[in-house]
Amino acid sequence: MPFPTLDPIPLPAPVWLFKVLHIVTLALHFLTVYLMVGGLTLAALWNFCTRRDANTPLYGASADIARRLPVVMTYLVNLGIPPLLFAQVLYGRALYTSSILIGVYWLSVIFLLTGAYYLLYVAARRAEHGRAFWWLSLLSLVGVAYVGRIYSTNLTLMLRPEVWLDLYRADALGAQLPTDDPTTFPRFFFMMLTSFAVTGAGLLMVAQFSRVEAAGRLFMGRWGGWLAGIGGLLSIGLGFWVYSVQPAIVKTSLANHGFYAWSLPGFLVCAALLSLFGFLSLKLTGWIPAVGAAGAGFLATTMAVIARDGIRDLTLLAKGFDVWQQPVAANWQVVIIFLLLFVAGLGVIGWMVYVFAKVKGIARHA
Ligand code: HEM
Repeated sequence: MPFPTLDPIPLPAPVWLFKVLHIVTLALHFLTVYLMVGGLTLAALWNFCTRRDANTPLYGASADIARRLPVVMTYLVNLGIPPLLFAQVLYGRALYTSSILIGVYWLSVIFLLTGAYYLLYVAARRAEHGRAFWWLSLLSLVGVAYVGRIYSTNLTLMLRPEVWLDLYRADALGAQLPTDDPTTFPRFFFMMLTSFAVTGAGLLMVAQFSRVEAAGRLFMGRWGGWLAGIGGLLSIGLGFWVYSVQPAIVKTSLANHGFYAWSLPGFLVCAALLSLFGFLSLKLTGWIPAVGAAGAGFLATTMAVIARDGIRDLTLLAKGFDVWQQPVAANWQVVIIFLLLFVAGLGVIGWMVYVFAKVKGIARHA
C-alpha cells in the first residue's frame, strides 16, 4: 500500500457533502483562472497593438480589462482556498505526499503569485494614466501560467503513488518537477486554452451589460463572439485529448460509471453550445447570445470539474485508494452553520460580481 496511513480523526461530514462543495467551489476557481489567463492575454495583445496611441477604442478596451484584473485575482485566490481545503480532507494522503515531493516548486507558488499580482496592479495604474503596459501583462501571464503548470503537475503526481519513492530517492528536497507523466501537459493545456472560450463569454457579457463606452462594447462584443465560437471548438478538442491519454482502465471505469459516465459527453455538449452562442452573437443582437454563452461556459466548466473528479477517483481506486471508504463522524450542527454561511457567502460574491460588472469603463475613454 503506497499511501500513508489514514488520519485517525474521522471526517466531520459525509464524503458526498465534501465532494459537492469541492466541485462547486472548484468550478468557481476554474472560471476565475480562465478569466485571468484570457484577460491577461487580451490586455497584453490589445495594448501592444495600440501602444503608441492611447486615444483609440482598442486602448480603452485593453485598459478596461487591465483595471479589472486585480479584482479577478482576488476572486481567483479566495475561490482556490475552499477546494484546496476540501481536497486535503478527502485526498490528503495522496495530495500531501505529492506536494512534499515537489515542495520547492509548490512553495514557490506563493512568490510567483505575489509577483504576478503586483504586476497586475502596476499595469492597472499605467492603464489609468494612458501609458503602455503590455509587457507587464505579458510577464504576469508567464507567472500565472507557471503557477498553473505547477498545479497540473502536483494534481497528476498525486495520482501516481508508484513513482513517489523513486522521486523521493532522487531528490528528498523536493526541488524537482516530474515531466514523464503523459497526462500532465494535456491537462495543463486544457486549462490554459479553454480560457479563450470562457473569456469570450465574459467579453460578451461586458459588451452587453456594462457601461463601457459604445465603441469599446462593439469591439469587445466582436472579439467575444469569435473567441467563444472558436475557443469552444478548441476546448472540445482539448477535452478529447485529456481523455485519450488516460490509462485504459480509467477510460473503461469512466465509461461504466453510473455518475461520471455522462460528465465528458456533458462537457462536450456545453462546450458546443458555448461555441454556438459565440457564433450566434456575431449575427444576432440582444442579450440571448451573451447570457447563453455565459451559462454554457459555466456549465462546461462544471462538467469539466466533474469529469476531472471522476478521473481522479477512478485512477486512485485502481491503485487501492477508495475515497468513499473513510470513517465519518458527522457533526451536523457545525455542518448546518457552515452551509448557512456558505450560501450567504455565495450571495455576497454574486452581488459583488454584479457591482463589478456594472463598473463604468476607464474614465479616460468613458
Ligand atoms: C495564478 C494563480 C493560479 C492558477 C493559474 C491556478 C491554476 C490552476 C490549475 C491549472 C488547476 C488545475 C490543475 C489540473 O488539474 O491539471 C488548479 C487547480 C486547483 N487550484 Fe488553482 N491556480 C492558481 C491559484 C490557486 C490558489 C492560490 C489556490 C488556493 C489557495 C488554488 C487552489 C486550487 C485547487 C484546490 C485546485 C484543485 C485541487 C483538486 O484537484 O482538487 N489555486 N489551479
